[in-house]
Amino acid sequence: MKNVLITGGTGLIGKQLSFFLKLKGYEVRILSRNNIVDSPYKTFLWDINQEYINEDAFKNLDHIIHLTGAGIANKRWSDKRKKEIIDSRVASTELLYNTVKELKIPLKTFISASATGYYGSITSETIFKETDKPATDFLGKVCQLWEQSIFKFKDQKIRTVALRTGIVLSKDGGALQKIKKPVIVTLGNGKQYMPWIHIDDLCELYLKAIEDTRLEGPYNAVSTEYQSNNSFSKTVAKIYKRPILPIGAPKFVLKAIFGEMSTIILNGSRVSANKIKQVGFKFRYDRLDDALKNLL
Ligand SMILES: NC(=O)c1ccc[n+]([C@@H]2O[C@H](COP(=O)([O-])OP(=O)(O)OC[C@H]3O[C@@H](n4cnc5c(N)ncnc54)[C@H](OP(=O)(O)O)[C@@H]3O)[C@@H](O)[C@H]2O)c1
Repeated sequence: MKNVLITGGTGLIGKQLSFFLKLKGYEVRILSRNNIVDSPYKTFLWDINQEYINEDAFKNLDHIIHLTGAGIANKRWSDKRKKEIIDSRVASTELLYNTVKELKIPLKTFISASATGYYGSITSETIFKETDKPATDFLGKVCQLWEQSIFKFKDQKIRTVALRTGIVLSKDGGALQKIKKPVIVTLGNGKQYMPWIHIDDLCELYLKAIEDTRLEGPYNAVSTEYQSNNSFSKTVAKIYKRPILPIGAPKFVLKAIFGEMSTIILNGSRVSANKIKQVGFKFRYDRLDDALKNLL
């Protein structure tokens, strides 16, 4: 049976992906900071700060999917939190890399999450593609450092893929739960784009990254339909039958509440899905209203 070790398998994406890959016939293993009781998957412990990892997780292992990372939008970005956001991604990738190298694991594929934050929190008419340079703002730097550590796996002749993921739409949490309040509120001037992807499409994308050996390098994991914050909010209001405030939450208020982190909700450009489509990936949800209806 094919094996896959998922780090951060307890999170929003990881839970659904574990279930999905198990249905597809994979033996799913989870690497977590915590002992998980009653898990349907074999779980193994690691401690990134102590550089500890249970080596049993790597026995006869075929693929790693790396999802671990401190939540970008969970807390204000103090210096301490910024370090945690970086270390939980970069130091964890380095620990995986060193373990695979030292144990000489003949891994077939290393696949990691990355984020559209790679291109920066800016509102523009640019449609970013994978060959564009990383931004110099905080998230741009996080993604750049993260991907540098991810693509070290290529040194070991391991096929490596990074999925630069947009806002993941799911029933079970994440951004959609924050957006679909009893009254829908647009943010700032509402002109910022919001690259998004339905979680089912994202799971299919991870499966494609495992099974289609043509995939190598970074891919944007975003749906094809571009939505601004204004159009996104209107569609949510329509599908969930909720009222929408006629004026947006002012920028200065959001800045006061969220500090530097407000940049990720107040800014955004379009991101191209062409590269992944060119290798034959078909989105089940390339229209936001269909995605939201499915998640109702
Ligand atoms: N959800 C989105 O909209 C979205 C968009 C773009 C990119 N991504 C990226 O995709 C990955 C998975 O996203 P997700 O939404 O599933 O994340 P999530 O629900 O926050 O789960 C991430 C997992 O990472 C581990 N983790 C959390 N804080 C950590 C810390 N401080 N140090 C080490 N490990 C920590 C946890 O696993 P354990 O407790 O089991 O160790 C957690 O279950 C993340 O890297 C995220 O940046 C997500």
